[in-house]
Amino acid sequence: MNLTLKIWRQKSPKDRGAIVDYKVTDISEHMSFLEMMDVLNEQLIASGEDPVAFDHDCREGICGSCSMFINGEAHGPSKGTTTCQLHMRSFKDGDTIFIEPFRAKAFPVIKDLVVDRSAFERIQQAGGYISVNTSGNTQDANVIPIPKADADLAMDAAACIGCGACVATCKNSSAMLFVGAKVSQYALLPQGQVEAKERVRNMVAQMDAEGFGNCTNTGACEVECPKEISLNNIARMNREFLKASVD
Ligand code: SF4
Ligand code: FES
Repeated sequence: MNLTLKIWRQKSPKDRGAIVDYKVTDISEHMSFLEMMDVLNEQLIASGEDPVAFDHDCREGICGSCSMFINGEAHGPSKGTTTCQLHMRSFKDGDTIFIEPFRAKAFPVIKDLVVDRSAFERIQQAGGYISVNTSGNTQDANVIPIPKADADLAMDAAACIGCGACVATCKNSSAMLFVGAKVSQYALLPQGQVEAKERVRNMVAQMDAEGFGNCTNTGACEVECPKEISLNNIARMNREFLKASVD
């Protein structure tokens, strides 16, 4: 198929940036979206132009680094799918596709489609872990019984890949779906109870310090999340935060 691409080009964080038009031809419907971008970049390199900078790593929906706003949707038109797993069969010959970076105050553009998502790392470092004694007396995890329903919900929350689509989609640039998932994956398990109060207080404080907005229950994050993280995780985080605040 032949396509027109309208891509956000921005040389540096200070550059104003603009949409630039490109044509790509003979794109197979079996290519992934990133493979289509590779074809464009090979074309640009061959003609001595600067290739389009975009983030990617695993290309199998795990790492969370691919982050493009495609035709006005984070990760494009397919539900529950990352940009790297989006296939060109989702588009038609002759289509025009708009490709922009994830936009949020807390995710400044570094170059073209690459944004700085280190704010998520700092939120994780504020409490997204458990402390375990590994001195030789470590208890086997299997000796702590966990109800199946709780284990399932914790695994669902742990599916969050930290891509930032929830932030890019939210009109308030809220990170509460991401932080809700990270708080929930521990709040649901006995291993997470020891540091539970400190964790939610510190992660929420860091989220606010990074400049993310608040949740106003619009639900766009849940719709666009490639891992279909549930809004219930935000409600759980709010309950955890309340519990930690009154004690
Ligand atoms: S909650 Fe979903 S959209 Fe947000 S960072 Fe996690 S996987 Fe990405
Ligand atoms: S490149 Fe890893 S999730 Fe897309």
